[in-house]
Amino acid sequence: KTVVLAYSGGLDTSCILVWLKEQGYNVVAFCANVGQEEDFEAAKKKALSLGAIKMVVSDVRREFVEEFIWPSIMANGLYEDRYPNGTALARPCIARAMIEVAKEEGAQFVAHGATGKGNDQIRFELGAYALHPTIQVISPWRLPEFYNRFMGRNDLFEYAKVNGIPLPVTPKSPWSMDANLMHISYESGILEDPNTHAPDDMFQMTVSPEKAPDTPTILEIEFKQGLPVRVLNKGDGTEKTEPLDLFLYCNDIGGKNGVGRIDIVENRFIGMKSRGVYETPGGTILLAAHLEIEVFTLDREVRKIKRELDVKFSEQVYRGHWFSPECEFTRTCIANSQQFVEGVVTLKVYKGGVTVLGRSSKYSLYNENLVSMNVQGDYEPLDAGGFIKINALRLREYRRLRETTNS
Ligand code: ARG
Ligand code: SIN
Repeated sequence: KTVVLAYSGGLDTSCILVWLKEQGYNVVAFCANVGQEEDFEAAKKKALSLGAIKMVVSDVRREFVEEFIWPSIMANGLYEDRYPNGTALARPCIARAMIEVAKEEGAQFVAHGATGKGNDQIRFELGAYALHPTIQVISPWRLPEFYNRFMGRNDLFEYAKVNGIPLPVTPKSPWSMDANLMHISYESGILEDPNTHAPDDMFQMTVSPEKAPDTPTILEIEFKQGLPVRVLNKGDGTEKTEPLDLFLYCNDIGGKNGVGRIDIVENRFIGMKSRGVYETPGGTILLAAHLEIEVFTLDREVRKIKRELDVKFSEQVYRGHWFSPECEFTRTCIANSQQFVEGVVTLKVYKGGVTVLGRSSKYSLYNENLVSMNVQGDYEPLDAGGFIKINALRLREYRRLRETTNS
């Protein structure tokens, strides 16, 4: 029996590793590099010393940006109008890499350390089943024989001591984090009280807007078919065109300028509301730029339909349905809408804010002559009178009825 375990090197997954071994599994430890700050070599050593037969680290940063973050930028991807889905986008990418390892290793099982209350278990497992229909998932935090044995952190510490699992050297932070190159999320612990303010020293990707530089950074972002293809810093001339570099550079600029912090209450798929604090510096810049170039180039009615697909897509992602027929469908339609979403947006990034300074595009439907107060353009003002009257027809009838029936 071989199991591939999503392993972080932390206390929880180390205990799970040893526990799986106790249950008679050969454990292959797996870690995806999605851009989190982590010592993968140390994690590898640790996994092997705890008895894993192998540790695989997959660097999926490039695919994470190109295949998961990019479609979400095209979709102006926000869950419940605010959350850029930083964790939700990484999960299918991690699950896919993990299933590849399971296939290579001939493993019939995969395991993970997500709790039984959250979204991550759903995302992880739906990804696994969708890509490998016969895989079996072990979710220890949902197994009575596991969670009854590890009721609190003390039980984990005790188990670690007995089994030679090195205890964490740094004290556990009073919240739970999930980090990747798109964002860091903070929830639970002291943040469970939705009225407790997050301390400023919690944030790791962004400075607070108050501490950000007093001079703005001006960025030019170019889009082709709805995707960012070039970022230029107008101040120092730095230019990035490779997707991963480009994204990391936006993180850098956003982070220095305190961009992308949010503190929200959201609805988990499982049914409960939860409070989360997020920092998504580069994603916030790119979402603002994309929205601008999209409005500038896309037909009004197409955009209205697409807007509904965007909301659907963001919910599908949040709910772990990336590898579903409906999500394939929304992704295809959204990408199709972006054929002429091209051009350059100039932005000011300054003390937590991202403001648009200008935009240009060879495909823009914006017509200066048509809209100008000074030029007639291909437009007959007289026609507007009829247009308004026809629109008023319904409103007048409505008023007349109200007045005659006194309702
Ligand atoms: N609430 C966010 C989401 O559902 C973040 C989840 C963070 N996950 C974690 N294991 N800490 O996407
Ligand atoms: C977890 O429960 O493992 C983290 C929170 C979530 O998945 O929503």
